[in-house]
Amino acid sequence: MKSMTRLLSSVAIACLLSAAAHAQNNGATLFQSNCVMCHGADGKGSTPTGQALKVANLHSPEIVKMSDADLANVISKGKKSMPAFGSRLSPPQVEALVSYIRTLQKQ
Ligand code: HEC
Repeated sequence: MKSMTRLLSSVAIACLLSAAAHAQNNGATLFQSNCVMCHGADGKGSTPTGQALKVANLHSPEIVKMSDADLANVISKGKKSMPAFGSRLSPPQVEALVSYIRTLQKQ
C-alpha cells in the first residue's frame, strides 16, 4: 500500500514537472516566433530592427519594475512602435510570454 502511494505521488510530480516545462517552452517558442526579430533572443533589443525602432531593453530596471499585468497589457495593446498582439495571441499565451520575460530578466 505504501509503495502504491509512493508510485502515485511520483506520477503526480512527473505530471506537474512536465506541465511546468510545457508552459516554459511555450513562452520561449512564442517569444522566438513573435518577439525576437525586434527584441533579440536575449531581450536586449540589439537586433538591427530593434535598434532602428528603438526597442525597449527588457532587462532595463523600468521594465523589471513593471507588474506582470502591465507587461501583459503592453503585449496585448502595443505601445508606439511595439505592435499589439492581443488579436493574435490568447491571454494564456500572453501570460506565458510574461513569465518568459521574467526568466530572461534573471539571466
Ligand atoms: C516590430 C518590432 C517589435 C516586435 C515584433 C515586438 N516588440 Fe516589444 N517593443 C518594441 C518597441 C519599439 C518597444 C518600445 C516601445 C516604446 O517606445 O516605449 C517595445 C517595448 C516592449 C516592452 C516594454 C514596454 C514598456 O512599457 O516599456 C515589452 C514588455 C515588450 N515590448 C514585449 C514584447 C513581446 C513579448 C513581444 C512578442 C510578443 C514583442 N514585444 C514584440 C518593438 C517590438
